Amino acid sequence: MSIVISPSILNSDFSDLRGELAKISGADYAHVDVMDNHFVPNLTMGLPVVEGIIKVTPVPVDAHLMIEDPDRWAPAYAEAGCASVTFHAEAATAPVKLARELRAKGARAGIALRPATPIEPLLDLLPEFDMILVMTVEPGFGGQSFIDGTLPKIARTREAISAANLDVWVQVDGGVSRSTIERAAEAGANVFVAGSAVYKAEDADAEVAALRQLAQEAHKH
Ligand code: DX5
Ligand code: ZN
Repeated sequence: MSIVISPSILNSDFSDLRGELAKISGADYAHVDVMDNHFVPNLTMGLPVVEGIIKVTPVPVDAHLMIEDPDRWAPAYAEAGCASVTFHAEAATAPVKLARELRAKGARAGIALRPATPIEPLLDLLPEFDMILVMTVEPGFGGQSFIDGTLPKIARTREAISAANLDVWVQVDGGVSRSTIERAAEAGANVFVAGSAVYKAEDADAEVAALRQLAQEAHKH
């Protein structure tokens, strides 16, 4: 299983997105948090800014849409060139239809679950998605602490994917750092979003490498 590191730019310096993105050229993706102030109590950016990011980023964009009505708004992020588009299960009306639309537009399709949202209703539908995002904090803000209670859901998700012999990625997002990444990897996550851990570090790319190393070691066990 490949390890994928996707730093979140949420807590980077928004006055210099080009420079902040250049700091993570050793990552696999740039995780971009779109929030609409309705699905979550925070407002970040929308499609025009994401289009600007796509123009200057050294790595593909992993868009995480924390918005209401993704059925209506998400396809435009795939059309704009996001390599991966993740919408929330709690917000989508027709998640399978939407995932198929995202794939048809050339993006990987991800579905996200808040900490209290179960994976079980989606287990028969896993082949429809390229990635399951198990939120390890309540979405909305960076810098929160990792919720250990989400670990069993990560494990159940990974077990179901393996049992069905699928190549679906399991992403964790929220409170991922050197002190929590191993637990998440051992539970079965292979895609790691880290915001403050990477952008608070002296050298962002070195932090990406350190996180990758820890996750790789954890997977060997
Ligand atoms: C939170 C966002 C995360 C956030 C993670 O709702 O989805 O991507 O930036 O930040 P840290 O790594 O600081 O928890
Ligand atoms: Zn996110």
